Amino acid sequence: MSSNIITSLCKPPIYTKTKVEFWNDEYISKQMLKAHLDPEFDGASRKLDFIEKSVAWIKDIVPPSNYPLLLDVGCGPGIYAEKFTQMGYHVTGIDFSKRSINYARQSALNKDLNISYFYQNYLEMDLKKSFDFATMIYCDYGALSTNDRQVIMRKIYHHLKPGGKLLLDVFSITKFCDFKEQQTWEVCHKDGFWRADEYAELNGFYKYSDNVTLKLISIISKNEITPYYLWDTYFSKESLVQEAESIGFKICGVFSDVAGSIYQAESDTIAILFDK
Ligand SMILES: C[S@@+](CC[C@H](N)C(=O)[O-])C[C@H]1O[C@@H](n2cnc3c(N)ncnc32)[C@H](O)[C@@H]1O
Repeated sequence: MSSNIITSLCKPPIYTKTKVEFWNDEYISKQMLKAHLDPEFDGASRKLDFIEKSVAWIKDIVPPSNYPLLLDVGCGPGIYAEKFTQMGYHVTGIDFSKRSINYARQSALNKDLNISYFYQNYLEMDLKKSFDFATMIYCDYGALSTNDRQVIMRKIYHHLKPGGKLLLDVFSITKFCDFKEQQTWEVCHKDGFWRADEYAELNGFYKYSDNVTLKLISIISKNEITPYYLWDTYFSKESLVQEAESIGFKICGVFSDVAGSIYQAESDTIAILFDK
């Protein structure tokens, strides 16, 4: 047992993937959905007042009258997708969380909103349809490995019409510099984020070269030791532009966030609008 604990706590090679599909775990996915839907919590989706500001700004810079067909990549439970639809876009959302997509479909039905949702890994996306505008919001791009970032950029490029636009945000180098390496632990007796029953959570926060960090969460319960790997890659304006340009995108605008704040290098996030 103790040697297994030590193995699970070791720093893995960069971009090692978690062995289990935790986003589709019956219990964990419920906690994730709760986090998405909490309007006051910046965990899985941003806080509601930010999202409202963000959607209003997006509608002004990429208006639905000129860019009606919108693809929301990693749409979660459809918080953005619904607001985009109410602003006049025809929205398609894709996400590999079954619970989020089920929730999004039911919510659209309840609100009488016509949104197409796909339960699918966006790295394998093949929708046989072209879009005017794609969004990938809340720094999900940086959670991917270098290779998977190329895959999703190519997929999005392929799904856009000529002249179509892509808006995405990433964490900045400033945030990478502020990241503190540390190890922490806590015990949850009941109904924690990762398990319903009692468990210990051992966290390692590690920096890697190439502006990459790992939050390594090891869950130790009565019967198991399970490590989860949450990766983030951080970008400068130049490094993000370079990745997008290598696929064929052209830069259209740079901002500090997806609500249109003026670009400042010291901001925690960078949002860039590209066109094809
Ligand atoms: C940080 S959340 C952001 C959700 C949404 N964009 C928002 O801002 O409310 C990232 C989302 O991407 C989804 N996701 C991550 N990797 C994915 C993949 N390979 N295929 C499809 N969805 C993925 C997750 O399930 C999650 O819903």
